[in-house]
Amino acid sequence: MKAVVLASPDGPSALVFKDLPDPKPGHDEILVRIRATSLNYRDVLILDGAYRKLQKQQDLIPLSDAAGDVVEVGSGVEKFQVGDRVTANFFSEWLAGEPDKETMHSDWGRNRDGMLCQLKVFKAHHLVKTPTHLSDAEAATLPCAGLTAWSSIIGEGKIKPGELVLTQGTGGVSLFALQFAKMAGAEVIATSSSNQKLAKAQKLGAAHLINYKDNPNWGEIALDISHGKGVDHVVELGGTQTLKQSLMAIRPGGTLGMIGVLSGATLGDILLPFIVSRKVRMQGVTVGSAEEMAVMCRAIALHKLKPVVDKTFPFEEAKEAFMYIQSGAHFGNVCIGV
Ligand SMILES: NC(=O)c1ccc[n+]([C@@H]2O[C@H](COP(=O)([O-])OP(=O)(O)OC[C@H]3O[C@@H](n4cnc5c(N)ncnc54)[C@H](OP(=O)(O)O)[C@@H]3O)[C@@H](O)[C@H]2O)c1
Repeated sequence: MKAVVLASPDGPSALVFKDLPDPKPGHDEILVRIRATSLNYRDVLILDGAYRKLQKQQDLIPLSDAAGDVVEVGSGVEKFQVGDRVTANFFSEWLAGEPDKETMHSDWGRNRDGMLCQLKVFKAHHLVKTPTHLSDAEAATLPCAGLTAWSSIIGEGKIKPGELVLTQGTGGVSLFALQFAKMAGAEVIATSSSNQKLAKAQKLGAAHLINYKDNPNWGEIALDISHGKGVDHVVELGGTQTLKQSLMAIRPGGTLGMIGVLSGATLGDILLPFIVSRKVRMQGVTVGSAEEMAVMCRAIALHKLKPVVDKTFPFEEAKEAFMYIQSGAHFGNVCIGV
Protein backbone atom coordinates (compact mmCIF):
# COMPACT_ATOMS: atom_id res chain seq x y z
CA MET A 1 0.00 0.00 0.00
CA LYS A 2 0.97 3.62 -0.35
CA ALA A 3 1.43 5.80 2.71
CA VAL A 4 2.70 9.25 3.56
CA VAL A 5 5.31 9.18 6.29
CA LEU A 6 6.82 11.96 8.39
CA ALA A 7 10.48 10.96 8.22
CA SER A 8 11.33 13.31 11.13
CA PRO A 9 9.38 16.13 12.82
CA ASP A 10 10.76 18.85 10.53
CA GLY A 11 7.71 20.32 8.78
CA PRO A 12 6.02 19.54 5.43
CA SER A 13 9.34 18.93 3.63
CA ALA A 14 9.87 15.84 5.84
CA LEU A 15 6.72 14.17 4.46
CA VAL A 16 7.66 11.36 2.07
CA PHE A 17 5.62 8.88 0.05
CA LYS A 18 6.37 5.22 0.84
CA ASP A 19 5.31 1.79 -0.36
CA LEU A 20 4.58 -0.37 2.69
CA PRO A 21 3.37 -3.98 2.95
CA ASP A 22 -0.44 -4.38 2.89
CA PRO A 23 -1.65 -5.05 6.46
CA LYS A 24 -3.76 -8.22 7.06
CA PRO A 25 -6.56 -8.47 9.62
CA GLY A 26 -6.15 -11.07 12.36
CA HIS A 27 -8.77 -12.53 14.69
CA ASP A 28 -11.23 -9.80 15.78
CA GLU A 29 -9.70 -7.32 13.33
CA ILE A 30 -11.12 -5.31 10.45
CA LEU A 31 -9.24 -4.11 7.37
CA VAL A 32 -10.40 -0.70 6.15
CA ARG A 33 -9.60 0.97 2.84
CA ILE A 34 -9.11 4.61 3.83
CA ARG A 35 -10.99 6.90 1.43
CA ALA A 36 -10.48 10.29 3.05
CA THR A 37 -8.59 11.87 5.93
CA SER A 38 -9.01 15.24 7.61
CA LEU A 39 -6.35 17.58 9.01
CA ASN A 40 -6.44 19.34 12.35
CA TYR A 41 -4.29 22.06 13.85
CA ARG A 42 -2.69 19.37 16.06
CA ASP A 43 -1.39 17.62 12.95
CA VAL A 44 0.49 20.76 11.97
CA LEU A 45 1.98 20.90 15.48
CA ILE A 46 3.03 17.23 15.21
CA LEU A 47 4.57 17.91 11.81
CA ASP A 48 6.77 20.54 13.47
CA GLY A 49 7.62 18.33 16.48
CA ALA A 50 5.70 20.43 19.03
CA TYR A 51 4.79 17.33 21.04
CA ARG A 52 8.51 16.67 21.58
CA LYS A 53 8.98 13.29 23.27
CA LEU A 54 5.26 12.52 23.16
CA GLN A 55 5.35 11.75 19.44
CA LYS A 56 6.95 9.10 17.29
CA GLN A 57 10.17 10.67 16.05
CA GLN A 58 10.76 8.63 12.91
CA ASP A 59 8.58 7.49 10.04
CA LEU A 60 5.24 8.44 11.58
CA ILE A 61 2.14 8.02 9.41
CA PRO A 62 0.35 11.25 10.39
CA LEU A 63 -3.29 12.21 10.96
CA SER A 64 -5.87 11.06 13.48
CA ASP A 65 -9.02 11.25 11.39
CA ALA A 66 -10.26 9.06 8.56
CA ALA A 67 -13.25 7.42 6.94
CA GLY A 68 -13.38 4.53 4.49
CA ASP A 69 -14.93 1.15 3.91
CA VAL A 70 -14.41 -2.36 5.22
CA VAL A 71 -12.59 -4.62 2.75
CA GLU A 72 -11.91 -7.68 4.92
CA VAL A 73 -12.88 -8.95 8.37
CA GLY A 74 -11.03 -11.44 10.56
CA SER A 75 -12.71 -14.32 12.35
CA GLY A 76 -14.78 -13.27 15.35
CA VAL A 77 -15.89 -9.91 13.93
CA GLU A 78 -19.66 -9.55 14.16
CA LYS A 79 -20.36 -5.83 14.25
CA PHE A 80 -18.99 -4.99 10.78
CA GLN A 81 -19.01 -6.64 7.38
CA VAL A 82 -17.28 -6.14 4.05
CA GLY A 83 -18.65 -3.03 2.33
CA ASP A 84 -19.65 -1.15 5.50
CA ARG A 85 -18.72 2.52 5.45
CA VAL A 86 -16.89 3.38 8.67
CA THR A 87 -15.24 6.28 10.49
CA ALA A 88 -12.49 5.85 13.10
CA ASN A 89 -12.66 7.20 16.67
CA PHE A 90 -10.04 9.79 17.64
CA PHE A 91 -8.96 7.87 20.79
CA SER A 92 -8.79 4.15 20.16
CA GLU A 93 -9.19 3.23 23.85
CA TRP A 94 -11.40 5.95 25.37
CA LEU A 95 -14.64 4.06 25.18
CA ALA A 96 -16.93 5.92 27.63
CA GLY A 97 -17.03 7.95 30.83
CA GLU A 98 -14.00 9.92 32.02
CA PRO A 99 -10.61 9.17 30.44
CA ASP A 100 -7.50 8.02 32.31
CA LYS A 101 -3.83 8.66 31.51
CA GLU A 102 -3.57 5.60 29.30
CA THR A 103 -6.69 6.24 27.23
CA MET A 104 -5.62 9.88 26.75
CA HIS A 105 -2.55 8.61 24.92
CA SER A 106 -4.50 6.41 22.52
CA ASP A 107 -4.96 9.02 19.78
CA TRP A 108 -3.83 8.07 16.28
CA GLY A 109 -1.09 9.79 14.33
CA ARG A 110 1.04 11.05 17.21
CA ASN A 111 2.90 8.38 19.19
CA ARG A 112 1.78 5.66 16.75
CA ASP A 113 0.82 5.53 13.12
CA GLY A 114 -2.26 7.35 11.91
CA MET A 115 -4.44 7.47 8.84
CA LEU A 116 -2.55 8.89 5.85
CA CYS A 117 -2.29 5.52 4.12
CA GLN A 118 -4.43 3.33 1.88
CA LEU A 119 -5.17 0.41 4.25
CA LYS A 120 -5.43 0.17 8.03
CA VAL A 121 -6.36 -2.57 10.49
CA PHE A 122 -8.77 -1.72 13.33
CA LYS A 123 -10.65 -3.44 16.14
CA ALA A 124 -14.42 -3.11 16.20
CA HIS A 125 -14.35 -0.62 19.10
CA HIS A 126 -12.20 1.75 17.02
CA LEU A 127 -14.94 2.31 14.46
CA VAL A 128 -18.45 3.73 14.01
CA LYS A 129 -20.70 3.33 10.98
CA THR A 130 -20.54 6.48 8.84
CA PRO A 131 -23.79 8.49 8.74
CA THR A 132 -25.21 7.61 5.31
CA HIS A 133 -25.77 11.18 4.07
CA LEU A 134 -22.08 12.09 4.47
CA SER A 135 -19.28 11.75 1.92
CA ASP A 136 -16.07 10.11 3.15
CA ALA A 137 -14.34 13.51 3.37
CA GLU A 138 -17.22 14.94 5.42
CA ALA A 139 -17.18 11.90 7.71
CA ALA A 140 -13.41 12.21 8.17
CA THR A 141 -13.93 15.58 9.87
CA LEU A 142 -16.00 14.04 12.69
CA PRO A 143 -13.45 12.30 14.98
CA CYS A 144 -11.48 15.36 16.15
CA ALA A 145 -13.02 18.66 14.99
CA GLY A 146 -16.60 17.41 15.16
CA LEU A 147 -16.41 15.58 18.48
CA THR A 148 -14.45 18.37 20.19
CA ALA A 149 -17.12 20.90 19.27
CA TRP A 150 -19.87 18.44 20.28
CA SER A 151 -18.23 17.92 23.69
CA SER A 152 -17.95 21.66 24.28
CA ILE A 153 -21.47 22.60 23.15
CA ILE A 154 -23.56 19.54 23.98
CA GLY A 155 -21.61 17.18 26.27
CA GLU A 156 -20.09 19.70 28.69
CA GLY A 157 -21.89 22.91 27.72
CA LYS A 158 -25.40 21.38 27.80
CA ILE A 159 -26.53 24.28 25.63
CA LYS A 160 -30.28 24.88 25.68
CA PRO A 161 -32.61 26.59 23.20
CA GLY A 162 -32.43 30.37 23.42
CA GLU A 163 -28.92 30.48 24.91
CA LEU A 164 -26.14 32.59 23.42
CA VAL A 165 -22.88 30.96 22.23
CA LEU A 166 -19.72 32.69 21.00
CA THR A 167 -17.34 30.92 18.60
CA GLN A 168 -13.77 32.04 17.81
CA GLY A 169 -12.50 32.03 14.24
CA THR A 170 -13.76 29.88 11.39
CA GLY A 171 -11.60 26.75 11.57
CA GLY A 172 -12.79 23.16 11.79
CA VAL A 173 -13.79 23.07 15.48
CA SER A 174 -15.38 26.49 15.40
CA LEU A 175 -17.77 25.85 12.52
CA PHE A 176 -18.88 22.54 14.00
CA ALA A 177 -19.56 24.44 17.26
CA LEU A 178 -21.66 26.95 15.32
CA GLN A 179 -23.63 24.13 13.69
CA PHE A 180 -24.19 22.19 16.94
CA ALA A 181 -25.22 25.35 18.80
CA LYS A 182 -27.79 26.03 16.06
CA MET A 183 -28.92 22.41 16.23
CA ALA A 184 -29.52 22.89 19.98
CA GLY A 185 -31.62 26.00 19.32
CA ALA A 186 -29.04 28.53 20.52
CA GLU A 187 -28.10 31.91 19.04
CA VAL A 188 -24.51 32.29 17.81
CA ILE A 189 -22.01 35.13 17.76
CA ALA A 190 -19.26 34.25 15.28
CA THR A 191 -15.86 35.95 15.28
CA SER A 192 -13.26 35.96 12.52
CA SER A 193 -10.33 37.97 11.21
CA SER A 194 -11.99 38.06 7.79
CA ASN A 195 -15.24 39.74 6.71
CA GLN A 196 -15.58 37.27 3.82
CA LYS A 197 -15.44 34.36 6.25
CA LEU A 198 -17.94 36.12 8.53
CA ALA A 199 -20.36 36.37 5.60
CA LYS A 200 -20.02 32.60 5.12
CA ALA A 201 -20.57 32.03 8.87
CA GLN A 202 -23.77 34.07 8.59
CA LYS A 203 -24.97 31.71 5.85
CA LEU A 204 -24.35 28.84 8.27
CA GLY A 205 -26.67 30.51 10.78
CA ALA A 206 -24.55 32.89 12.89
CA ALA A 207 -26.86 35.71 14.04
CA HIS A 208 -24.10 38.15 15.07
CA LEU A 209 -20.71 38.73 13.46
CA ILE A 210 -17.57 40.34 14.92
CA ASN A 211 -14.27 40.91 13.13
CA TYR A 212 -11.82 40.31 16.02
CA LYS A 213 -8.94 41.92 14.12
CA ASP A 214 -10.79 45.20 13.54
CA ASN A 215 -12.26 45.06 17.07
CA PRO A 216 -9.59 44.02 19.60
CA ASN A 217 -12.16 44.65 22.39
CA TRP A 218 -14.61 42.22 20.87
CA GLY A 219 -15.60 40.94 24.33
CA GLU A 220 -17.38 44.25 25.00
CA ILE A 221 -19.23 44.02 21.68
CA ALA A 222 -20.39 40.51 22.58
CA LEU A 223 -21.50 41.81 26.00
CA ASP A 224 -23.54 44.53 24.26
CA ILE A 225 -25.11 41.94 21.94
CA SER A 226 -26.23 40.04 25.05
CA HIS A 227 -27.79 43.29 26.40
CA GLY A 228 -25.21 43.35 29.17
CA LYS A 229 -26.19 39.92 30.52
CA GLY A 230 -23.18 38.09 29.07
CA VAL A 231 -23.00 35.09 26.76
CA ASP A 232 -23.76 31.63 28.11
CA HIS A 233 -20.90 29.73 26.47
CA VAL A 234 -17.63 30.65 24.74
CA VAL A 235 -15.83 28.14 22.53
CA GLU A 236 -12.33 29.18 23.62
CA LEU A 237 -9.85 28.40 20.85
CA GLY A 238 -7.44 31.32 21.01
CA GLY A 239 -5.89 30.88 24.47
CA THR A 240 -3.62 33.59 25.87
CA GLN A 241 -4.67 36.47 23.62
CA THR A 242 -8.41 35.76 23.59
CA LEU A 243 -9.10 34.72 27.18
CA LYS A 244 -9.43 38.27 28.53
CA GLN A 245 -12.03 39.12 25.91
CA SER A 246 -13.85 35.85 26.53
CA LEU A 247 -14.01 36.67 30.25
CA MET A 248 -15.38 40.09 29.34
CA ALA A 249 -18.09 38.46 27.24
CA ILE A 250 -19.13 35.55 29.50
CA ARG A 251 -22.07 35.83 31.90
CA PRO A 252 -21.66 35.06 35.62
CA GLY A 253 -21.89 31.28 35.88
CA GLY A 254 -21.26 30.87 32.14
CA THR A 255 -18.91 28.29 30.65
CA LEU A 256 -15.68 28.70 28.74
CA GLY A 257 -15.08 25.56 26.71
CA MET A 258 -11.27 25.50 27.04
CA ILE A 259 -10.19 23.88 23.79
CA GLY A 260 -7.43 25.63 21.89
CA VAL A 261 -4.29 27.66 22.24
CA LEU A 262 -4.01 29.26 18.80
CA SER A 263 -2.58 32.51 20.20
CA GLY A 264 -0.65 31.16 23.20
CA ALA A 265 -0.82 28.53 25.91
CA THR A 266 -0.68 30.47 29.20
CA LEU A 267 -3.23 32.43 31.24
CA GLY A 268 -1.30 35.66 30.52
CA ASP A 269 -2.14 38.49 32.94
CA ILE A 270 -5.65 37.29 33.79
CA LEU A 271 -6.79 38.39 37.25
CA LEU A 272 -8.21 35.29 38.91
CA PRO A 273 -10.96 37.15 40.85
CA PHE A 274 -12.50 37.80 37.42
CA ILE A 275 -13.13 34.07 37.25
CA VAL A 276 -13.71 33.31 40.93
CA SER A 277 -16.11 36.09 41.88
CA ARG A 278 -18.22 35.58 38.76
CA LYS A 279 -18.35 31.79 39.16
CA VAL A 280 -17.09 31.27 35.62
CA ARG A 281 -16.76 27.61 34.71
CA MET A 282 -13.60 26.86 32.73
CA GLN A 283 -14.20 23.43 31.29
CA GLY A 284 -11.25 21.68 29.65
CA VAL A 285 -12.27 19.72 26.56
CA THR A 286 -10.22 16.90 25.04
CA VAL A 287 -12.10 15.60 22.01
CA GLY A 288 -14.37 12.88 23.49
CA SER A 289 -15.05 9.16 23.93
CA ALA A 290 -16.26 6.51 21.49
CA GLU A 291 -19.65 6.57 23.22
CA GLU A 292 -19.95 10.33 22.64
CA MET A 293 -18.86 9.89 19.02
CA ALA A 294 -21.71 7.42 18.48
CA VAL A 295 -24.23 9.77 20.11
CA MET A 296 -22.95 12.66 17.96
CA CYS A 297 -23.19 10.57 14.76
CA ARG A 298 -26.81 9.70 15.59
CA ALA A 299 -27.66 13.40 16.00
CA ILE A 300 -25.79 14.31 12.80
CA ALA A 301 -27.72 11.63 10.88
CA LEU A 302 -31.07 12.73 12.33
CA HIS A 303 -30.49 16.42 11.55
CA LYS A 304 -28.72 15.70 8.23
CA LEU A 305 -25.95 18.04 9.40
CA LYS A 306 -23.28 18.57 6.73
CA PRO A 307 -19.74 19.34 7.99
CA VAL A 308 -18.02 22.23 6.23
CA VAL A 309 -15.20 20.93 4.02
CA ASP A 310 -13.24 23.80 2.49
CA LYS A 311 -11.08 21.72 0.20
CA THR A 312 -10.14 18.07 -0.40
CA PHE A 313 -6.60 17.65 -1.71
CA PRO A 314 -5.63 14.56 -3.73
CA PHE A 315 -3.31 12.09 -1.96
CA GLU A 316 -0.34 13.19 -4.08
CA GLU A 317 -0.78 16.74 -2.74
CA ALA A 318 -0.67 15.84 0.97
CA LYS A 319 2.15 18.32 1.59
CA GLU A 320 0.12 21.10 0.00
CA ALA A 321 -2.81 20.25 2.29
CA PHE A 322 -0.61 20.74 5.37
CA MET A 323 0.71 24.02 3.99
CA TYR A 324 -2.83 25.19 3.22
CA ILE A 325 -4.02 24.64 6.80
CA GLN A 326 -0.83 26.29 8.08
CA SER A 327 -1.66 29.37 6.00
CA GLY A 328 -4.97 29.91 7.87
CA ALA A 329 -6.76 30.64 4.58
CA HIS A 330 -9.27 27.81 5.10
CA PHE A 331 -12.91 28.04 6.18
CA GLY A 332 -13.85 24.89 8.10
CA ASN A 333 -12.11 21.59 7.47
CA VAL A 334 -9.31 20.58 5.12
CA CYS A 335 -9.26 16.99 3.84
CA ILE A 336 -7.04 14.66 1.81
CA GLY A 337 -8.60 12.04 -0.43
CA VAL A 338 -6.82 8.67 -0.35
N1 LIG B 1 -8.81 20.26 23.17
C1 LIG B 1 -9.11 19.53 22.12
O1 LIG B 1 -9.59 18.40 22.25
C2 LIG B 1 -8.88 20.07 20.75
C3 LIG B 1 -9.38 19.41 19.63
C4 LIG B 1 -9.25 20.00 18.38
C5 LIG B 1 -8.58 21.21 18.27
N2 LIG B 1 -8.06 21.80 19.38
C6 LIG B 1 -7.39 23.10 19.30
O2 LIG B 1 -8.37 24.06 18.90
C7 LIG B 1 -7.76 25.05 18.10
C8 LIG B 1 -8.50 25.13 16.77
O3 LIG B 1 -8.30 23.90 16.09
P1 LIG B 1 -8.82 23.71 14.59
O4 LIG B 1 -8.38 22.35 14.17
O5 LIG B 1 -10.25 24.09 14.49
O6 LIG B 1 -7.92 24.79 13.88
P2 LIG B 1 -8.01 25.42 12.46
O7 LIG B 1 -9.06 24.74 11.64
O8 LIG B 1 -6.64 25.48 11.92
O9 LIG B 1 -8.54 26.90 12.80
C9 LIG B 1 -7.74 28.00 12.60
C10 LIG B 1 -8.64 29.25 12.64
O10 LIG B 1 -8.71 29.74 13.97
C11 LIG B 1 -8.89 31.13 13.93
N3 LIG B 1 -7.93 31.81 14.80
C12 LIG B 1 -6.57 31.81 14.74
N4 LIG B 1 -6.07 32.61 15.69
C13 LIG B 1 -7.14 33.13 16.35
C14 LIG B 1 -7.29 34.06 17.42
N5 LIG B 1 -6.23 34.62 18.00
N6 LIG B 1 -8.54 34.36 17.81
C15 LIG B 1 -9.62 33.80 17.25
N7 LIG B 1 -9.54 32.93 16.22
C16 LIG B 1 -8.31 32.61 15.79
C17 LIG B 1 -8.70 31.59 12.49
O11 LIG B 1 -10.00 31.86 11.98
P3 LIG B 1 -10.27 33.15 11.04
O12 LIG B 1 -9.44 32.91 9.81
O13 LIG B 1 -11.72 33.10 10.80
O14 LIG B 1 -9.84 34.35 11.80
C18 LIG B 1 -8.06 30.37 11.83
O15 LIG B 1 -8.42 30.27 10.49
C19 LIG B 1 -6.28 24.67 18.02
O16 LIG B 1 -5.56 25.32 19.05
C20 LIG B 1 -6.29 23.18 18.29
O17 LIG B 1 -5.06 22.70 18.79
C21 LIG B 1 -8.18 21.25 20.61
